[in-house]
Amino acid sequence: MTTRDKLTLATLRHRKKTQTPITMLTAYDFPTAQIEEAANIDCILVGDSAAQVVLGHGSTLQATMDFMIAITAAVRRGAPTAFLVGDMPYLSFHVNTEEAIRNAGRFMAEAGCDCVKVEGDRRLADTVRALSSATIPVMVHMGLRPQAVHQFGGYRAQGRDAAGAQPLIDDAKLMESAGACALLLEAVPPEPAKIITESTNLPVIGCGAGPHVDGHVVVVHDMLGLTAGPLPKFVKRYGDIRGQIATAVQSYAQDILERRYPAAEHCYQMESGEAAKLRPAE
Ligand code: KIV
Repeated sequence: MTTRDKLTLATLRHRKKTQTPITMLTAYDFPTAQIEEAANIDCILVGDSAAQVVLGHGSTLQATMDFMIAITAAVRRGAPTAFLVGDMPYLSFHVNTEEAIRNAGRFMAEAGCDCVKVEGDRRLADTVRALSSATIPVMVHMGLRPQAVHQFGGYRAQGRDAAGAQPLIDDAKLMESAGACALLLEAVPPEPAKIITESTNLPVIGCGAGPHVDGHVVVVHDMLGLTAGPLPKFVKRYGDIRGQIATAVQSYAQDILERRYPAAEHCYQMESGEAAKLRPAE
């Protein structure tokens, strides 16, 4: 049962001002959202990483608007007070600003989001301005942008030299003046992340951006140990959910094979004397 007040943009700004870290995790379904809400996670991101960790695609590019809206609404039902961020999928905001506003508006109106997230650099400033003018709070995802994986030539940390880091620092200021409400920095070294965090009034969430940002997010499947295969360097594992599920599923199958399940306590009982009245079909 939640007792906290609804988290808003004002809460996040206050956290930055008072240097109180912001906790953020992804979620893609109702029960996980309930668990995160009960743990008082501040912000929940329904990431387009769902295309990979939920649907099994090789990249985030296959996430569609309808899919994202359906799972985001489920997360909202599970987490009524968290600050909810809907991730604008590939090509949902690139074609023109009208389409960007319409799609972002669906996250706000249909899924109950507090804000949308778009991946981009300075070329996206006009879209950020248009969304903000349409009263849609927008978080800008900079650094490693998984939707640009083909342009980047793989999932690589960004801003590892001055020539790569300076545009990130400059773009952060540009996004603030374009009306962004928050920034997310993925796979960026701590030094440029610190400069960005100190030079903007916007809350800055790091996803592999070192310790100096205002808050942190990772993919929940990664930190729980549900993801198969190698994890990004910045992920710390807090569980072995995959191992626990595997053990439970194997035990279930073994119980069936060895006739231990179902046992008497798993069976419905007929009313007294009724079984004796039954006879085989003629
Ligand atoms: O889609 C996602 O989950 C994300 C996080 C990795 C930040 O964008």
